[in-house]
Amino acid sequence: LAVGPLKGKRILVTSGPTHEPIDPVRYIANRSSGAQGTAIAAALVHLGADVVFVTGPADIAPPAGVEVVKVQSAREMMAAVQRVLPVDAAVFAAAVADWHVENARASKMKKTKDGMPDLKFAENPDILATVCASVKRPRLVVGFAAETDDVVANATAKRLRKGCDWILANDVSPETGIMGGSENAVSFVTEEGAQAWPRMSKTEVAKKLAGLIAQTLNS
Ligand code: C5P
Repeated sequence: LAVGPLKGKRILVTSGPTHEPIDPVRYIANRSSGAQGTAIAAALVHLGADVVFVTGPADIAPPAGVEVVKVQSAREMMAAVQRVLPVDAAVFAAAVADWHVENARASKMKKTKDGMPDLKFAENPDILATVCASVKRPRLVVGFAAETDDVVANATAKRLRKGCDWILANDVSPETGIMGGSENAVSFVTEEGAQAWPRMSKTEVAKKLAGLIAQTLNS
């Protein structure tokens, strides 16, 4: 590929966990570090893309050279993503919470006065599926699947259900050390089938993915 094969291409990357508020000081979250999404955004910038990085609260810094949009909850992430479209390609690496607390409180819950919390949950919007079904669907949409069982079968079904082009599926069973770790073992799932990538650093996964995105957007 030539230097800067993604020059002039606008690419959205979502990353990190979401925080779903319970009250002004408490929230529900997940163990996503944002490492894979951050590495992907950096790799895309390296190939010359204009990257919009929509991130939930993550401890690691966003990569240099991206436009950063910080959000907390899944619903905020959905709204931010809709403002960013249209883009040429989108990578959904965020670990979006499936539910939010429907009866979140406007003021801090008190142990003495309020007793045990009675949290009611409601579904969050599926950002990836919504974007895939939208009239502004990017030409190339990439999703992730974090699974603990039947990784390829679940990812294959997920690709069809969500309507995305590619899925990077990984086994996040605790013994793999992938969630929060620096390495990833990915199955790359497309219309053509599943391809097992060797275990490699999240940086290498990002470079490989960015290369494939560049090939596709230039074909
Ligand atoms: O359904 P599941 O969470 O396993 O799907 C994972 C993929 O869908 C990831 O790419 C994730 O970023 C995306 N997703 C999303 N919005 C949600 C849930 C998942 O964009 N509410």
